[in-house]
Amino acid sequence: MATGMLHTHYLCVILFTLIYLVKTILLLSDRHELLESFRRKTKVPEMIVSFGFLATGIYLMTQLPAIPAMLIVKIALVVLSIPLAVVGFKKKNKVLASFSFFLIIVSFGLAQKVRQAKAGGAVAAVSGKEIFEDKCSLCHGDNGKLGLNGAKDLSVTKLDHKGIADIIAQGKNGMASYKDVLTTAQIEAVTSYIESDLKGK
Ligand code: HEC
Repeated sequence: MATGMLHTHYLCVILFTLIYLVKTILLLSDRHELLESFRRKTKVPEMIVSFGFLATGIYLMTQLPAIPAMLIVKIALVVLSIPLAVVGFKKKNKVLASFSFFLIIVSFGLAQKVRQAKAGGAVAAVSGKEIFEDKCSLCHGDNGKLGLNGAKDLSVTKLDHKGIADIIAQGKNGMASYKDVLTTAQIEAVTSYIESDLKGK
């Protein structure tokens, strides 16, 4: 369910950004008639896509164990860019329209960062708990029970130490491999944390 939602969310965001991009280019290049006809033709699809992107976004947010600060900034940027875009396109104000598009792109970049911070990128964290909360809780939840994106409930895992460490290193189905993200010592630390703090709790 959550995976489907995430994919629908990405799809809506991409379609939304594409429609937006075309409109911004048309406005910037003074093709007003083309812009008007494009606006008319994409009105309904744009409404569907924006609704889809908001609805799936809100659903996904309710699935997160905690809302990262970066996500709040991202949402604020998206929310701010919408009235700017409406006014910008209506008044054919190039500066407003481009600024609004710029905000959408920045929030896109932030979304990427939220994900990297949660699921990839180099980690400086040393304690198993910190690594877990940084990289794993997005899907598994702080207590291991969340199950987002089809993640297994870690509190009931039957795997032994090596089994857990192997899944972290190799990944499995919906879970990426962490062998290029975490060092062996970090995988060890997070494995021990799962065993001592989450398993059987
Ligand atoms: C993108 C979501 C996601 C992230 C992030 C993630 N996992 Fe998973 N994890 C999964 C999924 C999905 C499975 C189930 C894989 C399967 O068996 O099909 C899983 C399974 C596991 C299992 C096996 C549990 C069992 O009993 O079979 C362990 C252990 C585990 N994850 C640990 C971690 C650790 C540690 C991290 C952080 C370094 C992490 N996961 C990050 C999605 C994720």
